[in-house]
Amino acid sequence: AVTAKIAPSMLSSDFANLASEAERMLNCGADWLHMDIMDGHFVPNLTIGAPVIESLRKHTKAYLDCHLMVTNPLDYVEPMGKAGASGFTFHVEVSKDNWQELVQRIKSKDMRPGVALKPGTPIEEVYPLVEGENPVEMVLVMTVKPGFGGQKFMPEMMDKVTLPFISCLFLCYFLEVRTLRKKYPSLDIEVDGGLGPSTIEMAASAGANCIVAGSSVFGAAEPANVISLMRKSVND
Ligand code: DX5
Ligand code: ZN
Repeated sequence: AVTAKIAPSMLSSDFANLASEAERMLNCGADWLHMDIMDGHFVPNLTIGAPVIESLRKHTKAYLDCHLMVTNPLDYVEPMGKAGASGFTFHVEVSKDNWQELVQRIKSKDMRPGVALKPGTPIEEVYPLVEGENPVEMVLVMTVKPGFGGQKFMPEMMDKVTLPFISCLFLCYFLEVRTLRKKYPSLDIEVDGGLGPSTIEMAASAGANCIVAGSSVFGAAEPANVISLMRKSVND
């Protein structure tokens, strides 16, 4: 059976104290550290790249689950490998023509390849990457538009029309996860965006086993409680 991996998103941490924030999360029970790499082009935000991964690697042995929200993932394989990334998850939207080469190079740098898809991208697009001779080892289903952490629901801001619409969107994502889990029982399936105590049940029952959570973990008074609650949901 697939095992639960709870991955706090370091995007919600204090970047000026990244090493101690990472250690704090591991002490709170985190399995992985989720690192959001953005290039200001694939998404309208700019975060960190290989140099920061390299710096963090000197302070921790943890699994660094790197999510590449970049237009040219191939350019990042070598530097990310050198920097000490553990997982390298690229977006399917920008790798239609070269995913085979990408996967091969990622593996040759001793990283675990994963493929991510934006909310608007149909799940069918990742099937060839999971089924091929040289398959990816994880599928990351984005449950918010990539680019920013903390996109949590603000019910007080929503009128009667948008609320059902948003819940319906969430439902669609989790139906995608369910389809994927049925088709690939032993695949790592990661969900990313808006996950926390109020949404974990949907994700876990749909079959996600790797859970990324930024604001819900870092914003909690007791991150350890949120992490263990989410792990329990996945394992039950
Ligand atoms: C968004 C990133 C996420 C983000 C999740 O583009 O991929 O990893 O940090 O943050 P929350 O859990 O706050 O939605
Ligand atoms: Zn992410």
